[in-house]
Amino acid sequence: MTTDIAARERDLLARIPTQLLLGSGWSDSADGSTFAVVDPSTGRTLVEVADARPEDGASALAAAAAAQKGWAATAPRVRAEILRRAFELVIERTEDFALLMTLEMGKPLAESRGEVAYGAEFLRWFSEEAPRISGRYATAPDGLNRLLVLKRPVGPCLFITPWNFPLAMATRKIAPAIAAGCTMVLKPAALTPLTALLFAQVLRDAGLPDGVLTVIPTTTASAVTGPLLRDSRLRKLSFTGSTEVGRRLIADSAEQVLRVSMELGGNAPFLVFDDADLEKAVDGAVLAKLRNGGEACVAANRFLVQRGIAERFTTAFVERMGGFTVARGTDPGSTMGPLVDEATRSKVADLVAGAVEDGASVALGGKALPGAGYFYEPTVLTGVPSDARILEEEIFGPVAPIVVFDTEEEAIRLANATPFGLVSFAFTSDLDRALRLAEELDTGMFGLNAGVVSNPAAPFGGVKQSGLGREGGLEGIEEYLETRYVGIADPFGK
Ligand code: SIN
Repeated sequence: MTTDIAARERDLLARIPTQLLLGSGWSDSADGSTFAVVDPSTGRTLVEVADARPEDGASALAAAAAAQKGWAATAPRVRAEILRRAFELVIERTEDFALLMTLEMGKPLAESRGEVAYGAEFLRWFSEEAPRISGRYATAPDGLNRLLVLKRPVGPCLFITPWNFPLAMATRKIAPAIAAGCTMVLKPAALTPLTALLFAQVLRDAGLPDGVLTVIPTTTASAVTGPLLRDSRLRKLSFTGSTEVGRRLIADSAEQVLRVSMELGGNAPFLVFDDADLEKAVDGAVLAKLRNGGEACVAANRFLVQRGIAERFTTAFVERMGGFTVARGTDPGSTMGPLVDEATRSKVADLVAGAVEDGASVALGGKALPGAGYFYEPTVLTGVPSDARILEEEIFGPVAPIVVFDTEEEAIRLANATPFGLVSFAFTSDLDRALRLAEELDTGMFGLNAGVVSNPAAPFGGVKQSGLGREGGLEGIEEYLETRYVGIADPFGK
């Protein structure tokens, strides 16, 4: 660690908010308790953060409910300008946000800067959508009555966000909600609350009124959010995280029949056909696997490679994966940081051990790094049998299992043989095949000759057990709008 970075870390940690954000501003938790936020590359505590109790959750929702009417009545242009100012402030503070994400989550600084740009873009995109919310006025088919269709904000929302993209997963929910006129309670992941708290401060600096956003980091998530889901003032839940937790939250949301958006687990197939451009396929594969150290629901989880290109692809892919420098994200040479905690690293190690038991060979990596922090080597597994357990589970780490296939039909069958359906990727130079794949691969998103599909202007989301609803794009704001229909008697009295 250079002295310069050490000094910047100390300075940043001393000036970020570490309390809850409730309706009246920053506050300690009801019983004054706090929890430690840990640097995954050292295992050391960075800072203590207020640990919300159920009373704090109740107070956050009360603030959101109280602010809802006034916020919905605020001019769309005013909401848009708050978002635009927040975009500019996040960009101005790129280095603070990037360092904070690297400290609490582990990714290298260059990737954190990329996330700042990605996360901020949701603010800019939805600042442009806020003034464009519209309805319609139509004549009924019988030519008599008139139909008026209005769009109204859904109402107070609860957002539960994950640790892997601490800024972007928050802005992807908060920006459309602000644009639509909804108030919000945000519960960020307990592993990475700092970025969310700093972002909340930016929104206040940008002019967001009290109560529109409250933030309640907590180590007792169900005790704090459970009562909110059963409270009739809450109207929507948006969650990004595992399918297992999402399923429970959907069940809990049934009591109040809440609107739900669920961005859940993935098991992305990455298909490489004999006719693919090898260099582009390898570039795409490395990106799809090692973006965020593999800790992404959209990370390629299964590499399905056609026999004619398999050997050349594997050799080039292993070489590129082996070129990563695994080190603390603040180190200037780091290109991959640690996994977020020991539980995540142990799960990855167990999946690799299981794959080897199932018959796979380790072509690269396959080990945890000794010493402090939760580092794991970039790993490539070959000869993975198509029924190996590693192909059924979301790896959430830097491990790439390769399976060889012969025909397009077999590739599609293998790709779709999963209860998940978030994203798929394919590399081919055959246009007809590409279009067949776009129709046949059963996922909400498809990367064609592309290793990353995420884009604030595009609808992000999955099918099957990967979730419900879409975030981003033109579709993203619809998640925060209710349609109200007004039937009007024939104004001409015919
Ligand atoms: C995720 O996969 O967890 C979200 C990643 C993204 O938005 O690209």
